[in-house]
Formats: sequence, C-alpha cells, structure tokens
Amino acid sequence: MLVTGFMGSPRKHGNTAYLLDRFLEEAARLGAETRKIHVPDLKVTPCTGCSVCEKKGRCVFKDDMQTTVFPLLRNSGLVVMASPIYFYTVPAEFKAMIDRTQTLWSRKFKLGLKDPEEGRRKGFLLSVGATRGKDLFDSINLTMKYFFRGISTDFKGGLTYARIEDPGDMKKHPDVDEHIRLAAQKLLSGMDDKRSCLFLCRDNSYASLMASAFARIHAGDNGAFYSAGFVPSETANPFLVPVMEEKSLDLAYVKPAGVQSLIPFIRPDHVVIMGPTDYPVPDLANVDVTFWDMDLPESPTMDDMRRIRDDIEERVLILMKTIVTFESIS
Ligand SMILES: Cc1cc2nc3c(=O)[nH]c(=O)nc-3n(C[C@H](O)[C@H](O)[C@H](O)COP(=O)(O)O)c2cc1C
Repeated sequence: MLVTGFMGSPRKHGNTAYLLDRFLEEAARLGAETRKIHVPDLKVTPCTGCSVCEKKGRCVFKDDMQTTVFPLLRNSGLVVMASPIYFYTVPAEFKAMIDRTQTLWSRKFKLGLKDPEEGRRKGFLLSVGATRGKDLFDSINLTMKYFFRGISTDFKGGLTYARIEDPGDMKKHPDVDEHIRLAAQKLLSGMDDKRSCLFLCRDNSYASLMASAFARIHAGDNGAFYSAGFVPSETANPFLVPVMEEKSLDLAYVKPAGVQSLIPFIRPDHVVIMGPTDYPVPDLANVDVTFWDMDLPESPTMDDMRRIRDDIEERVLILMKTIVTFESIS
C-alpha cells in the first residue's frame, strides 16, 4: 500500500517535518511504500474559481497538480496531510493545493462520478501550533474534513500538538514517538488483511485497471483489489476515463503500475492474468491463478474499449461468485 505524506510547512526541517518523517518511517517499517511531497516546492497555481471543473471535470491549469498531486491522491491507500498552523489555518502554498482539489470535488459532487477507492482510502492529519488556545486546531480540522470528503477519502483524525514553536520543539516532546508508532499501527493494521486479488495484464493501461475498479465496486468491503502490468505503460489509455465515466466510475489520474514494483508491498491470494499469457507469471507462493483469454489490442478504439469494459465487468461478477472468499457477493 502506498502512504503519501504531503508536507505543508515551508520549513524543511522544522516541527511538522519531524512528525511526518517519523510517521513515514513507521509506515515503511510496517511494510508500506512511502512518498513524501514538500508542497511549497511544487508549482501549483491558486484556484481562480473559473468553474470549468464543475462542467468538464478537469482543471484549466497544467502544473504539478496534474503530474504529481492528483495521481498521488488517487493512487495512495493512506494520505497524510502534515501542516503547521498559520493564522489558525494552513500555510498559503498548502491551501493552494487543497483548493485545487476542487476538480476532484466537482467530479464527485457535480458530475456524480464515483471513485472506486472511496471507503478504502484513509486520510490523517499531523499538525503543530505555537499557542495553547483550545480552538487552535478547530479550523484545520474542518478544512481536513471537507478536503478529505472531496477527494473520497475517509478522514481518520490526527495528531495535533499545541505549544510547539521553535524548530526542534517537536522532537523534545516526551511522548510523540510513541503517539506516532501507535497511530501508524492503527491506520495500517487490517488494511492488507482482507483476501486480495491482483489483476495483471500486459501494461496496466486499461484492462486490469478496469477489472480492479469493477471488483472494488462489486465486492464492497469483501476483499482488496490491485492491478498491475508486466511492462507498465507511462500513462493510462486516453479512452479509459471516458468509457468508465459512462459507468459513472472515476478513474481519472490513476497511473499504471508495474508488477515487480507492486509485489514487495502486497500479498495477493488470487491472481487473474488477462490477455496474452506470454509473460512469466510472478513467483508467488500459495496463490491461485486464473487466466482470462482475452483479445486486448494495444491501440483499442473507443468501441473496442466499451466492448472490453462490458466483458470485464461480467467476468469480474462471475469471479466474485466463484472465488470462495467472495462468495457472499451477489
Ligand atoms: C506566518 C506564521 C503564522 C503563524 N500563525 C500561528 C497561529 O495562528 N497560531 C499558532 O499557534 N502558531 C502560529 N504560528 C507558529 C507555528 O505554527 C509554529 O512555529 C510551528 O511550530 C511551526 O512549525 P514548522 O516548524 O513545521 O514550520 C505561525 C507561524 C508563522 C510563521
């Protein structure tokens, strides 16, 4: 599972950094893949409220939101937002990033699209402030509540520390390391306990992405689903998003993954190999393998994509009934 920490403080080695670094170290120790993004280093144009995303589901600005932030928000199992308090809220660069997620909010609430990961992706807050007022974290908690709701992520609360001012103050806190250890354990435990299925195709550019999305929608909470490619393509097929939108599913910003980079972080119970089978099946102990003999063109037309999408959905529904642990699913 990917854990991404978004670091909101302009200070690279201050108190927020201490919290986030410790959290990510702990997540890595528990077996997660981790990424840290220093948000003030990103190029993010503030939202202008132009409303294009509300109608078209996309943002007019082409910057690091498209290349870095949206793909990480969509591909992470746990999103950690780490920020100091600046005037009772978050620093300006961090707020610009949060505001720009209005595109995902619009896709969900204006266009009625469902992120298949909704209900599984978790969100967490790490924050510090210098003063001791009891309402110090009220505003940031509200911002996080609505930020996480807009990005279809389940906000699990956070760790917040008052009276932390100078760089080095956080490190001196007697219990912080233990708090972080317990929080990371609680957030990550159980995430990989479910019976899981990995869908594998040539390049993870559309077929296995469709399969894992349908599996998540149809299986509800009864399983964990992943997808990967033997030779992952750089980007998803451009028809993937529109054909899945026809089923009201939102796969925007989902990125293809390679099986070799995924395997160290997951332990699938079942693998479905889709399309040509002339790639070596990954060496996984105690794994059931199903082969789906499908014609998956490298450059499918929109009509090919529709036909393949419907075929995959039917196969997923049958698979859900036949894999013993998913048999309760109708
Ligand atoms: C521009 C600015 C505004 C701040 N506003 C607040 C505030 O409203 N309330 C507060 O308790 N601390 C405030 N602080 C203090 C920081 O939250 C505090 O120093 C924190 O430990 C900084 O974390 P960092 O080292 O991760 O940057 C502010 C600091 C700055 C630079």
